[in-house]
Amino acid sequence: MKILVVGSGGREHALCWRIRADRPDADLYCAPGNSAIANIATTVPLAADDIGGLVDWSVANRPDLVIVGPEDPCALGLVDRLSGAGIRAFGPSAAATRLESSKAWTTELLDRAGVPIPDSAIFDTPLDAHDYVDDAVNPLVVKADGLALGKGVLVCDTPDEAHAAIDAIMVERRFGDAGSSVVIQERCFGPELSVFAICAGTSFRIIGSARDYKRAYDGDHGLNTGGVGAYSPVADADEALLQNVADRIIGPTLQAAADAGHPFTGVLYAGLMLTADGPVVIEFNIRFGDPEAQVILPTMRGDLVEAMLAAIDGDVSTIDLVPDGSAAVCVVLASGGYPGSYETGRKIEGLDALPPGALAFHAGTETRGDGLYTAGGRVLGIVGTGPDVPAARENAYAAVDEVTFQECQWRSDIAAAEKAPARKSPSVVPA
Ligand code: AMP
Ligand code: GLY
Repeated sequence: MKILVVGSGGREHALCWRIRADRPDADLYCAPGNSAIANIATTVPLAADDIGGLVDWSVANRPDLVIVGPEDPCALGLVDRLSGAGIRAFGPSAAATRLESSKAWTTELLDRAGVPIPDSAIFDTPLDAHDYVDDAVNPLVVKADGLALGKGVLVCDTPDEAHAAIDAIMVERRFGDAGSSVVIQERCFGPELSVFAICAGTSFRIIGSARDYKRAYDGDHGLNTGGVGAYSPVADADEALLQNVADRIIGPTLQAAADAGHPFTGVLYAGLMLTADGPVVIEFNIRFGDPEAQVILPTMRGDLVEAMLAAIDGDVSTIDLVPDGSAAVCVVLASGGYPGSYETGRKIEGLDALPPGALAFHAGTETRGDGLYTAGGRVLGIVGTGPDVPAARENAYAAVDEVTFQECQWRSDIAAAEKAPARKSPSVVPA
């Protein structure tokens, strides 16, 4: 079977690794891939957003399956174009990508569908937004409508901060056109949880839960990043909670997207907050998370490729892709200074001495004549696996101790608060 994976980060390395594990004989390609992906797949020198190039390559090479890792190519219509050319592509249509790319559209959709979300209001002009803040009683969160590299959400402690957030997003246009409208939400409190489902229209299966770490430094200090750690499963995500998420959140969201004429196929990543009143949706992403994929993919039982093909064919009710009951913890090794300015080109040592139970997924590395060098902000996702989260955590940090490069920066508290043994996560079969 010929498979093309689109993307070049740690998430795509984990996807290629998983496909290799399930299907050692697959004819695997990755565009553009990276230095470590090149060891397990044939890399194709086409950027993930080179839609014309990727379609031409696929038409010429006829892969049996194309898997799109990041959101941008989906938003640019890659899946629509490939499907139109008769090529099976896993990921949402450009229209369904709006679940991630427009917070205003998604807020209206979820509100109509009765999916639990924080109290929300949408504004197209700063004046109306400022008036709303003047009348509000509780703390607020101001969100740019569009894609802003995960930075378009401003959590505010005071009305003054909310006013400043509106000006930054809508007047100064700090996030460009993403800020032409805003969603203002009541600020909720509680632990966060990410739930991942493989979806085909209104048919879906929950494939795992994870918690990720967005701030650069220990104790959730420092700037927001793309994600510097994650673990799975999350003890909060027990069978009853996942059933609730399936029944009240994922099922109704997929039904509403289909009713709106934009059925969703792909991985739906529900970012939830577990409030005193139950889980509420904070955001949706339309893809595997990065680095969440690095902890979900090593802890699943079943055949990923078969599940994705079933999704493209419109029914995942019988797929056998479920959490295997084990745990994984990912610690991201970043270049010192990330997510601000940082240097690259540092030599990486120790990857050949990883202890058992550890994996290294490459996000920003490059091979030179005499070895491997850093080439990005997030460099490596070091993953420890084990029977439960504390054991996986031990394995992750034992591996982190082996790997070195100058100015390496990593958090030492990933999964530290997760004391409970991992529960055997259920496979949730929606009615
Ligand atoms: P988002 O990009 O929508 O996931 O938001 C980024 C982060 O902002 C989330 O992970 C939360 O920590 C926080 N956040 C977003 N919406 C809310 C909300 N309504 N209440 C409290 N925190 C929020
Ligand atoms: N780690 C967060 C994301 O992939 O969006």
